[in-house]
Amino acid sequence: MAVLKILRMGHPVLHRIADSVVAPDSPEVRHLVRDMLETMHDARGAGLAAPQIGQALRLFVYHVPSSRCQDGEAAIEPCALINPVLMPVGEEQMVCREGCLSIPGLRADVPRYKRVRYSGLNENGMAVSGIATGFHANVLQHEYDHLDGILYPERIKDFTRFAFQDETPA
Ligand code: NI
Repeated sequence: MAVLKILRMGHPVLHRIADSVVAPDSPEVRHLVRDMLETMHDARGAGLAAPQIGQALRLFVYHVPSSRCQDGEAAIEPCALINPVLMPVGEEQMVCREGCLSIPGLRADVPRYKRVRYSGLNENGMAVSGIATGFHANVLQHEYDHLDGILYPERIKDFTRFAFQDETPA
């Protein structure tokens, strides 16, 4: 296993549409997922998308720690979603306080859908699907955006609360 270098905003791989994973159950993809999980933990992130470590592939890893659960939401152990599909369920939105390992130190309020339906393959190449709410829905939408070359500043509607994490916006 290895901790990989995380690319920062401005690197071209972060700003392009990533390619589908052709062999989701290959040893190479399993190895990549393991390294991405280790990198995510090392950086104390909730999620990490393959473009952030320089691989323009449609795959991300994430977890939902119990400390981030809202309204009885269940914690989710670290896992991968490969070739994911996301669809909003309803039009209702929520405001999420987001950061990104590719934009260190900053936070902003970002509108996201409250509920999303997700599907894809997990770290074992098995099909998974479900409906996510709360922080789970937030992290899925943030990581999915990375696969389309979108970083959260492009989603900000209210820039008055775009700030360094160790400052307190008014
Ligand atoms: Ni990010």
